[in-house]
Amino acid sequence: MTKTNPTHTKAWEKLQAHFSEIKDFNLKEAFQKNPNRADAFTLKWEDFYVDYSKNLITEETRDLLTALAEEAGLKEAINALFEGEEINRTEGRSVLHTALRSKADASIKVEGENVIPEVFEVKENIREFSYSVITGAKKGFTGKAFTDVVNIGIGGSDLGPVMVTEALEYYKNHLKVHFVSNVDGDHVQEVIKDLNPETTLFIIVSKSFSTQETLANSTTIRKWFTKKAPADAVAKHFVAVSSNVKAVEEFGIETQNIFPMWDWVGGRFSLWSAVGLSISLSIGYDNFNALLEGARKMDEHFKETDFKENIPVQLALLTLWYNNFFKAETQAIIPYTQYLHRFPAYLQQAIMESNGKGVDRNGNEVSYQTGNIVWGEPGTNSQHAFFQLIHQGTKLIPADFIGFKKSLHNEQEHHNKLMANFFAQTEALLQGKSSDEVRKELEAKNTSEEKIEKLLPFKVFKGNNPTTTILIDKLSPESLGKLIALYEHQIFVQGIIWNIYSYDQWGVELGKQLATTILDEIEKNDVGTHDSSTGNLLKFYLQE
Ligand code: F6P
Repeated sequence: MTKTNPTHTKAWEKLQAHFSEIKDFNLKEAFQKNPNRADAFTLKWEDFYVDYSKNLITEETRDLLTALAEEAGLKEAINALFEGEEINRTEGRSVLHTALRSKADASIKVEGENVIPEVFEVKENIREFSYSVITGAKKGFTGKAFTDVVNIGIGGSDLGPVMVTEALEYYKNHLKVHFVSNVDGDHVQEVIKDLNPETTLFIIVSKSFSTQETLANSTTIRKWFTKKAPADAVAKHFVAVSSNVKAVEEFGIETQNIFPMWDWVGGRFSLWSAVGLSISLSIGYDNFNALLEGARKMDEHFKETDFKENIPVQLALLTLWYNNFFKAETQAIIPYTQYLHRFPAYLQQAIMESNGKGVDRNGNEVSYQTGNIVWGEPGTNSQHAFFQLIHQGTKLIPADFIGFKKSLHNEQEHHNKLMANFFAQTEALLQGKSSDEVRKELEAKNTSEEKIEKLLPFKVFKGNNPTTTILIDKLSPESLGKLIALYEHQIFVQGIIWNIYSYDQWGVELGKQLATTILDEIEKNDVGTHDSSTGNLLKFYLQE
């Protein structure tokens, strides 16, 4: 991996000059001038149709951005990623979530050893375990089949599984899957209050097995469970997914009930491993494997395709264009399917925990913007919530619109309405509405001249708001796998160009350390030395 400051590259210099020329780029005019603009900026791959023509770019912008990726050594970096080089330098680890979805005959080495056989061994365990729980062959302590599964984990040990199980609800079986993540005791109590210990399986997911939230929730649940069941029933009802076998055993889970995780898979990229056990239980192993297969296909596309035709590369470059040249602070992600309602939250961890870094690969503070802020909610709900600001606010907010050609329940009338909104929004964001159009519209309604004058400025839409449309044939385990991997690879591309390390997360440590100190003070009712704000708040909290 190079350690080049991107702003010192030739490509950046050219982009800067190019940006000053086109910063007032008018999308509407661009479409008028070139009726084939959409074709020039559409990528079709498998069941994906990606139209990025509604962005503030010309073909030259694409060429220059692509040249930046090349100058940043992206090609070599992609090879390093897939070959298992220790690209997570600050933690001394490889970054191999791609190995989890590789073919069985692949050979990917970590410290000289091919990890693929072990990956497939664990996949086989996931398959067998899922089959035995789903069919009812595996039973609880009173001989009853399992009806409920509780995933206990947080961050990457929660968000991936919860997002995917929600996204693939249509494919799910009879097992009810629940998630406990927050250390807020009300969360765990709400989840367990209606559960029957005889028929509930608990999966504790924690790569480190030292995460406060997960240990607290697991301890509370085990206490609740052993009040209602004999102590030796724990072995039948609790399994764990972790790379810290010793700590899991100390917690009381038997070795044969531990699914391994590996150092070379980051938490926020781990849903493809045994961390996805709750996914496999919820939709069956074959569907889980199809999810992995989708991601594998995207991996291949990312690895093999020329940058100009490469979907993750091009979309990553667009984000960089807005982030670093237009100085856009955020990016909206709007899935037009209720099933993907947790997708933006999932991406917040994946993207912001990865690229929220202010120090470059040389250890120097960066002098340019990095990590983009992502947020969003499904359409059409979001249209009735925050779209006002995207249409008429003062901020530039590029948005990804994700939609599907087919509805899963064959509710065609609903789907046409949903998709009409999907297409209408990107068109409205592009076209806007001029004062002439507003005037004509009001005149057609016989509005008085006085009222027109008053209302006109408020009804004008400037338009020119950039969007990217990702239109996929159907929401399925495979297409979801492709979609997730598409965003994972964008994170990688951006991290490489921004010259940062995307795969550590030191920034979450300080809060954890201070919370340990403060918890001790709360428990001892003895407030230590703090700034006056924190000190006063603690005293107020402890007041009877
Ligand atoms: O938030 C920090 C973090 O380390 C995430 O990266 C991780 O996904 C999460 O905590 C949970 O960690 P663990 O799986 O070790 O409990």
